[in-house]
Order: sequence, then C-alpha cells, then structure tokens
Amino acid sequence: MRYSRVRTITTMGLKVMDVLVELDIDSRSLVQDMDIVGLGDTVVKESKKRVKSAVKNSGIELPNGRITVNLAPSDVKKEGSYLDLPIAVGLLKATAQIKTDLSDFIFFGELGLDGSLRKVRGVLPILLSLSRKANGTKVVLPAPNKTEASIVDKLTIYTIDNLNELIGFLNGQIRKEPIKYEKPELRNLDTPDMSEIKGQEFAKRAAEVAAAGGHNLLLRGSPGCGKTMLARRIPSILPPLTMDEAIETTMIYSVSGLLGDRGLIKERPFRSPHHTASTTSIVGGGNDARPGEISLSHNGVLFMDEFPEFRRDVIEALRQPLEDGVITVARAKLTVTYPARFMMVAAQNPCPCGWYGDKTRECTCSWYEIQRYNRKISGPMEDRIDIFVDMPRLDFDKYMETSTAESSASVRERVVRARSRQLERYRGMNLFSNSQLGHSLLKEYVNLDTTSRSLLSGAVDKMKLTARAIDRVLKVALTIADLEESKVLARHIAEAIQYRKKT
Ligand SMILES: Nc1ncnc2c1ncn2[C@@H]1O[C@H](COP(=O)(O)OP(=O)(O)O)[C@@H](O)[C@H]1O
Ligand SMILES: [Mg+2]
Repeated sequence: MRYSRVRTITTMGLKVMDVLVELDIDSRSLVQDMDIVGLGDTVVKESKKRVKSAVKNSGIELPNGRITVNLAPSDVKKEGSYLDLPIAVGLLKATAQIKTDLSDFIFFGELGLDGSLRKVRGVLPILLSLSRKANGTKVVLPAPNKTEASIVDKLTIYTIDNLNELIGFLNGQIRKEPIKYEKPELRNLDTPDMSEIKGQEFAKRAAEVAAAGGHNLLLRGSPGCGKTMLARRIPSILPPLTMDEAIETTMIYSVSGLLGDRGLIKERPFRSPHHTASTTSIVGGGNDARPGEISLSHNGVLFMDEFPEFRRDVIEALRQPLEDGVITVARAKLTVTYPARFMMVAAQNPCPCGWYGDKTRECTCSWYEIQRYNRKISGPMEDRIDIFVDMPRLDFDKYMETSTAESSASVRERVVRARSRQLERYRGMNLFSNSQLGHSLLKEYVNLDTTSRSLLSGAVDKMKLTARAIDRVLKVALTIADLEESKVLARHIAEAIQYRKKT
C-alpha cells in the first residue's frame, strides 16, 4: 500500500485544530496527477503545483499514478500555503523515501519551486498554543520562521532550509539540534510618557487609580484640555504583560490579520476606534467572525473618544463584554468566542459645542441639548464606569512651567504593586482586578471603621448615591488603599467619592 498520514494544524478563530494530511497513491492509474480534497481554499489547491515542482527539482522522482490528498477533518476549512510541506512529506513517506515514524511530528511550510522552504505567516500563535499543551510534539518549520519560533517555550522545534535537508534529517543522516528558546522581554513602552503632561494632577491621579484597579474611566472636558493626551499614556503606566497575556493578545492580532511581522506582541494594546465605527467593527463579527476593537484591546486600553458621538447601538453593545470580559460572535455556521477584557477609557466634551463650564469661552448649547448629550450614556452604561473626571483647561502659567512631572515608569511601579496585591488576594478566583468585584466579595474585603462609615453615609445622603454607586466607591477606595499597601481608611473613601460623576 502506498499510503501515508502526516500531521499539521489549522486555526478556527482562536482555536487550534489538528489536521491530518492523508495521501494515497493509486499506481494502477495511467495519469500522473494529484487531487487535493477536504475543504482547502484556492491557495491549498495550488499546493499541488508547488509540491510537484519542489519534489522534482529536489532530484526526487515523482511516483507514477494518481495521488489523492485528503485533509481531515473534511468539514473544517483550511487556508494558506503552509500545507505544502505536510503534503510533500506525505508524498515522500508514501514512497518510502522517508522511513522514520512521523507520528510525533507536525509540519508547516510553504515550498518554493526549487524545493526550498519559505516563511509562513501566522505560525507564532499556533506554536504558542501547541506549547501550552506541551505533549512531546516535534515541529518542523521553514528556516525563515526561526526568529519567531525561538520565543516559544516547551516545544521541540526544528527549522529546515529545503526538502533534501529534511529527508536527511528525518532519515537520521543529518544531525540537527532543536532551536534554542529565547525568553522575550515584556515591557511597556514609555513613549509617550506621563511626564509630558503638565498640571492636571487630579486627572493623572485618577488615571493611576484606574490603572491600578482596572477601573473604567471617563474623562470630561472642553477641546484641547488634554483628554486624548492622557488616555494615550495609560498603557505606559499599566503593568507589563505577562507571558500568557502576550500570547492571548498575539493570537487575537494574528486571526485579525493585524500581526504582520511583529512576532509576539510585547506591549499592552491601545485602540482608539472612530465614533462612526459600526457595532461589528467594535464588538466583532461579520462574514468571517473577526474579533472587534474590544478584543483587539484585550489586556489593554480601549479609548472611546467623543463617547456620546458613538452610535447608541455601539454603546449598548459594549455593556455585556464590559461585564463578562468575553464576546461571542456568530457567523453562518459557527460561533467564536474571543476574550475582551480591557480597560475602557472614554472621553467626552461637557456639551455638544464643547465649552460648557469653560472659564474663557461661552457655551452656545441649550439646556436641553446639554441634557440630551450627557444622557446618551445610559444608566446601565454609567454603572460600568467607576471613575469620572472633569478636566479643566490648563492655565497658561502651568503650561509654561519648566518643572517636569513624574514619569510613567515611576507611576507604574506603584500600579504594579497594587495589582500584585490584588492578584494575591484573588488567587484561584478568576478575578484580575478590583473592578471585577461583586457586592458580597466587596463586603468581605472592605471593612469600614466608624469614621469611614459616617463619611460614606454623608456622601450617600448628599450625592444621592444608589446602591451600585456605593459599591463603586468602595471598589475604588480598595484600589486606592492597594496603591498605599494599606487597608481601606477614611481618606481612601474620601478620595473615591471625588471620582463620582458630577452632573
Ligand atoms: N496638560 C497638558 N500638558 C501639556 N500639553 C497639553 C496639556 N493639555 C493639552 N496639551 C496640548 O494640547 C494638545 C491637545 O490636547 P488633546 O489631548 O488632544 O486634547 P483633547 O483630547 O482634550 O481635545 C496636546 O497635543 C498638547 O500639545
Ligand atoms: Mg481628543
């Protein structure tokens, strides 16, 4: 029997699935040809030509007869040129030119017509997810994929230049060492840096608290007061990505086709969709069930600039993922779930013209317009925002000041400490930050002394805080206490109250 089976992988959403390349040669057939069946796209169909030329030009004779290649399971679509290599290996195995048992091996690679192996796109996420299983699998890849493959831990990876080298290696005639793992350095970029923001101490402090507890933040202020400037600098004060987070984020960018040649994504993402964006582009979906902006911001910041200008259905569609940290999008036959745990930073003017409350310019909006504008963000949406900040415009004197403000690196040190306290506290609980705390856990972790209690009850009366608003004050107070590595005290409650929305 002239038959072989070779393993490779395909992706569906963020899922990585095994694919078996079966190859059968019917030597009774007089035509020498090859058919590829099993839901391959047009690129896969072209594999046949590349494989035939590559094999021939490597000095290997093609067998007589009809070759059938089946990609199993046949109900899953396979895309891309990386199937060239497993098909070629299948052919060499079926014709006994490769004699080794291949059941531990997985192959990827595009072939040049001369038998050389070419770089394939999108392998990093596949390797990363294989490495999480780490079950003794050996992977063979084209040599040009070596750099990205070297950051994958716990997986035996060989890189190969061409088909002849591969045959020699698999038959034991050429010795090859697996590639060496090189631990990637994960750290946030300090550009742009917090120190560039002059004044605005209150807003910067609010951003620090928000970053420290993963709280969603709304910045309100007239045009030019620095909302965008501040939002863009929030990723720089967040803790560096963990390896698992970097892997997840990389996989999301890869399935979105946005990874390019970046390899592993090492910094927290910052996404800033335009306010005319559609629900699909924000939450994900469409024909190919792509991840949306909320998933592209996973582990990072989603900046919703001009928040009330977004379509109402977009704002409403954010509610559920803000609660759950995941989003399920459907296409014709399948549903895909993508992670979407992000920090939302929203910005808005105080009114449609932008100048309500400004000291220097007159607002031209009617009272009705101002109300309508601010009401666009519904109660349930507001419930998901823990920190509200009104930003004044910078005074001329402050702007001209030469003293430099605190750097991102230095703010980040406090944020990192506060976050690790939280991770410690929530170990094994599938909670990542204070912002996710529910009422009962809040009660467990926040024990108010009498001063704090009367302070809070005063605010409840004066500001007419609802039960949910009280919980948000407590959550934020807990984060402020975490920044000081202290238990919750009256001064933390007092600061948290300042971050309530003023109407
Ligand atoms: N606090 C500040 N410190 C330094 N520059 C500032 C500050 N606030 C505003 N600016 C300057 O004004 C520009 C506009 O700020 P921006 O963040 O775009 O305002 P907004 O988004 O609130 O309209 C910034 O690019 C920056 O040059
Ligand atoms: Mg702006």
